[in-house]
Amino acid sequence: MENISDVTKGFVDLRRHMWMAGIEVNLRRLIWQIAVTGKYISAKIHESNRKLAGFENIYGEEQLALDRSSDIILESQMRHSGFVREYASEERDSIIQIGKGDEQYFVTADPLDGSSLVDANLAIGTILGIHNTSIPEVGGKSLVAAMYITYGPLITMVYSAGKGTHEFVLNREGEYVLSGENIVLKERGSIYSLGGLRRDWLPEHLEYIEYLESEGYKLRYSGGFVPDINQILIKKGGVFTYPALKDNKRGKLRLIFELQPVAFIMEGAGGMATDGKEDILSIKPESLDQRSPIYIGSRFEIEKASEFLSKSGT
Ligand code: F6P
Ligand code: MN
Repeated sequence: MENISDVTKGFVDLRRHMWMAGIEVNLRRLIWQIAVTGKYISAKIHESNRKLAGFENIYGEEQLALDRSSDIILESQMRHSGFVREYASEERDSIIQIGKGDEQYFVTADPLDGSSLVDANLAIGTILGIHNTSIPEVGGKSLVAAMYITYGPLITMVYSAGKGTHEFVLNREGEYVLSGENIVLKERGSIYSLGGLRRDWLPEHLEYIEYLESEGYKLRYSGGFVPDINQILIKKGGVFTYPALKDNKRGKLRLIFELQPVAFIMEGAGGMATDGKEDILSIKPESLDQRSPIYIGSRFEIEKASEFLSKSGT
């Protein structure tokens, strides 16, 4: 694949990149609109409102005021985009009909991933899935594009619309400038990111982790899915896991809102994602709030995970 940055030999912003990559016009407008939303969410983060909202989300987790405002910003941006028929997010218990009924796209979101890290000033993110199918029916197969935004020392946005995975940095002029085009993971990396408590891990998962440790993998876990995944993508290899736990076989992370969009992005970079048995993008979710164990990253580590997990026989 020829890099657009090689052809233009210079500054490439998000809109130009998507246009040159031949992405469908409404899809690129929508991706642009979502990227702009990242600026508004980051402005909210800068207001530094770390207070609890006094509500819980559908998973029984306490919402920060920031979780709710990020969700409201996204919903209203999607409502005004003109391309979105339905919107669903981790912070709501129902699907919102926002279009007239003839719009092409259906958007799912984790508006503020890792929000419990806000008070510690660690990086957090926003995850989006853009589907071509009505939300109750969505899954990995209905994704046409996925994106995540990382709010760290810099704001970066990574997207894939099925034509490679690309990173952009938000500059001081408010433009998203291409910083990593056609990112490709190496066959094997050297970092691992481990969710869940060791005492709650199942024996086959523990064996897998001990194998990685014997191979000299370095621990890199911030507690924020977006920055942890982003580290693996930008360092071009490694593995993130949040496994099945002894008393919770479905793990913690959410298939529709978190795992499938991020798996789409990783696969666009030549990576892989599995629940230990099945490819994450092949899983047909049975409910909007379905959770799943996850092993995601470069090929070697994910194939190894499947090898160790298939020993369990469950
Ligand atoms: O969205 C859930 C989340 O906050 C992820 O960002 C992160 O990977 C995970 O939970 C952290 O969970 P734990 O606190 O159990 O390590
Ligand atoms: Mn999250």
